[in-house]
Order: sequence, then C-alpha cells, then structure tokens
Amino acid sequence: MSKQFSQSHLLGIKDITRKDIELVFETADNFKAIINRPIKKVPSLRDVTIANVFFENSTRTRISFELAQKRLSADIVNFSASSSSVSKGETLIDTVNNILAMKVDMVVMRHPAPGACMFLAKHVKASIINAGDGTHEHPTQAILDAYSIREKLKEVGGKKVVIVGDITHSRVALSNIYCLQKLGAEVMVCGPSTLIPKHIETLGVKVEHDLMKALQWCDVANMLRIQMERQDIKYFPSLREYSMLFGLDKAKLDRLNKEIVIMHPGPINRGVEITSDVADSKHSIILDQVENGVATRMAVLYLLAGKQD
Ligand code: CP
Repeated sequence: MSKQFSQSHLLGIKDITRKDIELVFETADNFKAIINRPIKKVPSLRDVTIANVFFENSTRTRISFELAQKRLSADIVNFSASSSSVSKGETLIDTVNNILAMKVDMVVMRHPAPGACMFLAKHVKASIINAGDGTHEHPTQAILDAYSIREKLKEVGGKKVVIVGDITHSRVALSNIYCLQKLGAEVMVCGPSTLIPKHIETLGVKVEHDLMKALQWCDVANMLRIQMERQDIKYFPSLREYSMLFGLDKAKLDRLNKEIVIMHPGPINRGVEITSDVADSKHSIILDQVENGVATRMAVLYLLAGKQD
C-alpha cells in the first residue's frame, strides 16, 4: 500500500505526525532531483486548480508556492487582498467561496489572524494550506527548515537547535518547535525576556537569555527577524542594543570553539539580527532554505492532492 499523508489540509505542524514529515522529506527528495534536471516540470497536478490567497505581504513563500505549483503543472489563480473586493468589505468566507465557485481544488492562504486557515478549513470544501497565519504557525517554513538541517547535517534527530529573537510574535518559531521536536531534535529559544512567551518551557524547550551560552550549546542557530509590524509597544530599548546582545556577528562566531550552522527564514534585517558577513558566510544555509522551499512545497501539494478523492 502506498504511503499517504494523514491530513487533508496542512494547517499546522501541531496536527501532523513524524511519519507525515518524513513522507514529505522523501517526496521532496524526488522532486529536488527533478527540479535540478534540464526539464523541471512534471504532470502530477495537471487538472488541479490552486488559489494562492495572500492577505499579508510575502516574497519567498508566495513565489516558492507558485513555482512549486508550476513545476507540478497545476493551474493557478493568484489573489492579493490589496487589489481585491476585500477592501470593499467582503468577508473571508465570501471571498474564498467565490474563488471556489470557479472550481478551485486547493487554497494556499496567508492571513494576519491566527486560526484563519483552520476557520476556512471548517467552512469550505477545498484543501487548505496555511502559508502563515498571524503569530500562530507557518508549517511549510518549518518543514523546509528541518529538511535543510537534514540535508546539511544528515539527520535532525539528536541535533541541538536554538531559535533566536522575537519568539513571541513568530509563527516560524512555533512551527519549528513542533517540527524539530517531532523529529527528535532538542530545541532552545533565546532572546530578551520580553520577546519570549511566558511558560514556553511547557512546550519542552530550553530558555536562554545569553546568546553566547546558546551558541555554545547548539549545532544550529536559527536567527529570527524582529517583527516590528506586530509590535504595538517597545519590547527593548533600541535596535542597536538588541543587535549588540542578540545579533549574530563574526566576532561572536569567532569566539566559539566549534562550527555551527546558521539559518534565517527571511526576510533578513541585515545588521540587526544578523550581520552580512555571517548571513553570506559558508556557515549560512539561508539560500539552501529558499531553494528547498520549492521541493518541499511541491511535496506538500502533491501529497495533499492525493487525499482529494
Ligand atoms: N519566510 C517567509 O515566510 O518569508 P515571506 O514573508 O517573504 O514569505
């Protein structure tokens, strides 16, 4: 019997199993080989129509999903809130139902409200993929991040990963915590106490406020962006102070007695959470993460399409 994804939507890493994640990885391995061939396209999703519905800005996720869909020969419609009838007061359900009335099979959605994708999945008849819902989850980012660690270090299980920065406002942090732990990695979060949620230890993560100690502990450091657009109060005195205490620069890396892998989900604020000499160094796998986004998203789309019978 062929292996199947356990869910008909991808709303969050919390809902899926280790087997699901490993199935995505195996499927992505095949797609990665295909997209590195001269003929990059396969007919797997011919006659499947996918709507990319983005209520928030995106560069990587949106382009990566669109490229993944094109490589799989799907038909695509793109929707962005700024150029749609949402600005005239249309609700989320009405907007999506109108798109679905045009015979759309899957919806990839980014929305500023946590839970928006779950709400949609309960109310519409299509497979929903969460491309980031507010401060909640960003499941395909976590999958591509874990896939990139596996590619670089051979496996994720047993590795120590520190997630540094604005954990409170980060959907990438929560999805990464679930994904890495399901794969058997140890996870630490590091940042100013104002940007670390209270009781986060209950998720089974370590908490550290000293970046040098966190870097000494880890095999991998995932540097997150300060999400100014989600902060309504000041969480630290200045970006300069944040960068001195929690930004990663070459001097801090040189003080370590070992090599670590550096990651960042993007977009990068160069000079704030990471300096250019580190972001562009041989320790960084930031562009591998972006490249792996296409193969892993192809895998997710392919596996979810297989559930639509
Ligand atoms: N990593 C990420 O989600 O980037 P975008 O906001 O550009 O999609």
